[in-house]
Amino acid sequence: MSTFDLAAGGDPDLISRPRRNRQSPAIRSMCRETRLGVGQLIYPMFLHAEGDDVPIASMPGQTRWSLEGLVAEVKRVYELGIDKVVVFPKVDEALKTRTGEEAFNIDGLIPQAIRRIKDASPDTCVITDIALDPYNSDGHDGIVADSGEILNDETVGVLCEQALAHARAGADIVAPSDMMDGRVGSIRAVLDQEGFSQTLIMAYTAKYASAYYGPFRGALDSAPSVSSGRPIPKDKSTYQMDPANVREALRELELDEGEGADIVMVKPAGPYLDVIRALREATNLPVAAYQVSGEYLMIKSAADAGWLDEKRVVLESLLGIRRAGADVILTYFAPQVAEWL
Ligand code: PBG
Repeated sequence: MSTFDLAAGGDPDLISRPRRNRQSPAIRSMCRETRLGVGQLIYPMFLHAEGDDVPIASMPGQTRWSLEGLVAEVKRVYELGIDKVVVFPKVDEALKTRTGEEAFNIDGLIPQAIRRIKDASPDTCVITDIALDPYNSDGHDGIVADSGEILNDETVGVLCEQALAHARAGADIVAPSDMMDGRVGSIRAVLDQEGFSQTLIMAYTAKYASAYYGPFRGALDSAPSVSSGRPIPKDKSTYQMDPANVREALRELELDEGEGADIVMVKPAGPYLDVIRALREATNLPVAAYQVSGEYLMIKSAADAGWLDEKRVVLESLLGIRRAGADVILTYFAPQVAEWL
């Protein structure tokens, strides 16, 4: 029988009390295992060829910028500590073709944006998306054959041209998001041949065929089109990964590493934390994770309705992605987070 009153004095057998390490802000900050910093955030931004900055209906809080507006916003967020951006173009329908030539027009919207950003904010690291969907009249990341097949090797040729055009315009990092086989190695070879051995490749290594991209396709008007009369696949599941798979992500990782990727990515982020962890444990390369449009919208809409505390949920969602093993996170919340931290 104990001689101590447990309520008053404590149980002598209870040596380990985890709560001791949680008792004050000072002690908690010393014991904290994961941190989130502005240097770990990349801000994805949308751009069009028009003169006005337009709120994006499918992504409340996000804007489709004019070139002017984009540059001003890049400078504004740089002051907040956000020094890495990805730019996504909404391309005029008239410029879209089945083979997406506009993707490597050196005077196209993205090359123009890169040059303008580099002029106005030279220390901002500019990342570009390598894929054909904004430029392809069929709305796919690759060229769609008459049969409906998404052509791999023909597409890779165009992606190399696209990456080269972006590198020539001054992009620091090209990020192939298309999921064609062998594109990382081919892009690396072309960049090196043309004198761009310092341009990084951030590979979308494990990009899943996800319903969470819906709002993004609304922002760019880039969903697979069905109106051509040809058999256009209505989803991207012959090239993007099956959401059920994790070993396949490790297979993609092995290939991308071997082909010279500098940074590997998992996308989406929140529903794929186990995949982030698996890549983290299998590679010494930096791992990126993309908190995509649908993840953004779920938090944003609940917060706008007054159902969630936006700041706390956003920070927790990003900390979870960091804890899973991501070094860097692409998130539409980047400027807000920079203000909060
Ligand atoms: C296109 C691309 C997509 C996203 C980034 N690059 C959409 C898709 O694959 O259909 C999605 C980003 C998001 O949902 O936030 N290659």
